[in-house]
Amino acid sequence: MSKITPEDVARFGTRTRLVHAGRDPAEQHGFVNTPIYRGSTVIYPSLDAITNRRSRYTYGTRGTPTTDSLEAAWTQLCDAAGTVVVGSGLAAVTIALLSCLKSGDHLLVTDSVYRPTRLFCDGMLKRFGVETTYYDPGVGARIEDLMRPNTAAVFTEAPGSQSFEMQDIPAIAEVAHRRGATVLMDNTWATPLFFPPHAMGVDLAIEAGTKYLSGSSDLLLGLVSANAAHWKALRDTYDAMAICPGPEDVFLALRGMRTMALRLKEHERQALDLAEWLRGRPEVKEVLHPGLPGAPGHDIWKRDFRGSSGLFSIIIHPVTRDQLAAMLDDLKLFGMGYSWGGYESLIIPFDCSEYRTATTWNPGGQGLRIQVGLEDLDDLKADLAEGFARLARAK
Ligand SMILES: Cc1ncc(COP(=O)(O)O)c(C=O)c1O
Repeated sequence: MSKITPEDVARFGTRTRLVHAGRDPAEQHGFVNTPIYRGSTVIYPSLDAITNRRSRYTYGTRGTPTTDSLEAAWTQLCDAAGTVVVGSGLAAVTIALLSCLKSGDHLLVTDSVYRPTRLFCDGMLKRFGVETTYYDPGVGARIEDLMRPNTAAVFTEAPGSQSFEMQDIPAIAEVAHRRGATVLMDNTWATPLFFPPHAMGVDLAIEAGTKYLSGSSDLLLGLVSANAAHWKALRDTYDAMAICPGPEDVFLALRGMRTMALRLKEHERQALDLAEWLRGRPEVKEVLHPGLPGAPGHDIWKRDFRGSSGLFSIIIHPVTRDQLAAMLDDLKLFGMGYSWGGYESLIIPFDCSEYRTATTWNPGGQGLRIQVGLEDLDDLKADLAEGFARLARAK
């Protein structure tokens, strides 16, 4: 087998990159996968090497062959200049923000953002002198009206991971770049397979590897990829904070990455089928799935995205808490739990109304977020149908 060069990678398709990126069997005595390197201390071969830090690896927090494998692979997948890997998706959000903000800056954040991101902006960033303004996710090029001379960054998330509003990322990026601001995007839902973030104008792209990279709900990980203009600041921030993940988690993420395209396609197929089925149910007022024709955000999705994943929401007609409990408590296949992207189906109730500041969340019913796993669709439909029947009986 001959070595894969950067020129090879440039012409490879996504699936080939997923399979081959970030590993070199020749460096691992012929074994296919890069093994788990555990370690803090790295022994240098000479006084010259330790004094001038001339070794490829210098200390555990600065990277190992295991973390290098994942970072290199993700960089190739995203067509980025570089990637850092951290211990959770939320840590990826926070390190990306810290890499491009300083005291006195102004930050624009979509009102549909993952709530812990919001808490970080309203808590720690505020404490360090960064002011955040939330904006309507549908703002598009009108983001210009919200920009101030000190606006340093615009944070996007598309779609919003509960409410599923889409964002016009190219339009926002055009304005932000013209005004000298950095564009960040939480791209966890689409992954680089369905939305190539840097080609679409994003400077810093965030992925909670906890979701589809893992695919098994068994690890926590976050990745931030950067384009050339933002790579140095991101890497410097990472080196200053040393929030490195555990090597087992990185290894599992690499393992998950190899089959991610197949899993995502199946999550996509199952979710679209279930969303269509739910649209026909009398209990359902609205289905929020941008990949579904006629659903909110579908036009932007169709223009900019190459696929959709397994997470979407529905709004059911108003119910009491007891009626909702009757439906959800006895589901057999849909577990009630946070996170998503694993092989198993999940469902959670949600209500964005209590924390939105730029928009009003009033969908006229109860929100339920559904993660569609890899079970048989007929079984999933039957589980929900029985839940709806329990709900009707509780009325
Ligand atoms: C959109 C989005 N971003 C980031 C995260 C954070 O990921 P983690 O759970 O790994 O911190 C989540 C978690 O649910 C999420 O939904």
